[in-house]
Amino acid sequence: MLIVSTVPELHRALADHRAVGRSVGFVPTMGFLHEGHLSLVRRARQENGAVVVSIFVNPAQFAPTEDLDRYPRDVERDSALCRAEGCDILFVPKPEEMYPDGFSTYVSVEGLSSRLEGTFRPTHFRGVATVVLKLFLLVRPDRAYFGQKDAQQCAVIAAMVRDLAVPVRLVVVPTVRESDGLAMSSRNVYLSPDERKRAPVLYRALSRAAERIAAGERDAARLSAGITAAIMEQSPSAVDYAAVVDPLTLEPVDALAPGSDVLIPVAVRFGTTRLIDNIIVRVP
Ligand code: PAF
Repeated sequence: MLIVSTVPELHRALADHRAVGRSVGFVPTMGFLHEGHLSLVRRARQENGAVVVSIFVNPAQFAPTEDLDRYPRDVERDSALCRAEGCDILFVPKPEEMYPDGFSTYVSVEGLSSRLEGTFRPTHFRGVATVVLKLFLLVRPDRAYFGQKDAQQCAVIAAMVRDLAVPVRLVVVPTVRESDGLAMSSRNVYLSPDERKRAPVLYRALSRAAERIAAGERDAARLSAGITAAIMEQSPSAVDYAAVVDPLTLEPVDALAPGSDVLIPVAVRFGTTRLIDNIIVRVP
């Protein structure tokens, strides 16, 4: 595995793979890798001749009040994990490589970016779309891999790829969970032992909602209220939202239509830690 930090090095490393006709699978990350990231790398490994992983804690997707400075980092451990999964190129750019002096171009996916997470993090998806498009242009992957846990991120990137005709195939990989159901996230390390015990309530509440849909519940407001009530039993600091939306447009759904898919996303704060999770349910 080659570890590169500049664009010319990345291009040289990619040229060797392209010269022998290998397809390129790309996994963009912010590092502090866990099984969720590794499931993306494994899938990329299965489906491509060459695998590129990037590690870049992207300042543009953090608001000034957020956790950019304390976001967990361990590039050495991440490199070992990537090497063990058969990654070919690890791209670890410095902020000045991605945002050189005078950088002034941003990508904004309107509408989708302002719903759900966008209400609480208004500039987040502009930062995500900008860095992901730049990474796509640098790596020029055939396929790029993202986790279902960040459902809104997947929807925003899919819209950007469609609208700007970016030549990449997006692959969305199922959420990887701890044995008690908590969705894996680099931010789980922020949870105190007590918060960690309470955090699996997100997935329990989502699973209960899926059971209620299977049993015939079709009212989105009742489902959202049930999820919020179940989560509140674990005394979080706040339930930012528990919604029932269309998986592509993220528009709220009122009555669940038989045969349709609904996305049920939640965002919950335990102390200063904000957790998100979601499930997609096919309505019988
Ligand atoms: O999901 C993430 O880790 C980040 O949002 C991404 C896609 C790497 C962009 O910085």
